[in-house]
Amino acid sequence: MSAEEKPGHNWNAAAYAAQCGFVADLGAPVLDLLGPLAGLDILDLGCGDGALTRKIVDGGARVIGIDAAPDMIAASLRRGLTARLMDAEDLAFERPFDAVFSNAALHWMTRPDRVIAAVARNLKRGGRFVGEMGGFGNVAAVRVALNIVLADYGIDGNEISPWYFPTAADYKARLERGGFIVDQIALIGRPTPIGTSLAAWLDNFAQVFFHALSPRVRVAAQDRVIDLLAPLLRDETGAWTVDYVRLRFAAHLPE
Ligand code: BEZ
Repeated sequence: MSAEEKPGHNWNAAAYAAQCGFVADLGAPVLDLLGPLAGLDILDLGCGDGALTRKIVDGGARVIGIDAAPDMIAASLRRGLTARLMDAEDLAFERPFDAVFSNAALHWMTRPDRVIAAVARNLKRGGRFVGEMGGFGNVAAVRVALNIVLADYGIDGNEISPWYFPTAADYKARLERGGFIVDQIALIGRPTPIGTSLAAWLDNFAQVFFHALSPRVRVAAQDRVIDLLAPLLRDETGAWTVDYVRLRFAAHLPE
């Protein structure tokens, strides 16, 4: 996550661990894109609470995680990981990495060219950048519901959105302008069972949208968002499936 984040989002590592385990669990395919890990120096960009970072370490790599959320860095350190509080635009390390990995973090960084440049500066020649993020159309139903409800309070949901969900063509062009050769990049529709209430999901991921509202109004606004989405995203058992779309890519620098 970067300094460009919109104000109002406070990551709570305990709530994230209890309610958002699906994020790391569903990160297996992008982890597979890294291939054999033993002996590699890897930067985990936006490591969050370190759930996936731990798996990369267990695969035999030397890993440093960075994140801009102090609570997440504290959680990573509690797992025994090497983790630093750092802005993704300002990456600075003693030695370059073999690969930079990122899962579910780049969409919080709304100045992608600066992040891509920082990644390139911190990779060896031939080094790889492998990642997955929210892509174009991600959580579209949720965004429409947020926009409808917030409009009643005079708030433009698109204006205050903290998210960057690019198309494959957009992100590919940015990677190439940043000096990368793109090996693969694709949007993947991935309806995601969240395993919690939508209220908990909104608390974890969409706080920024409600930031300007008083606590009482906030609850009413969230309830309206939930009511709008229930017929679309809540099944007959009460389980919620959110309309995730991921952008998965692998790129490398020239030798
Ligand atoms: C995520 O961090 O995975 C995420 C954030 C916002 C919307 C959807 C997913």
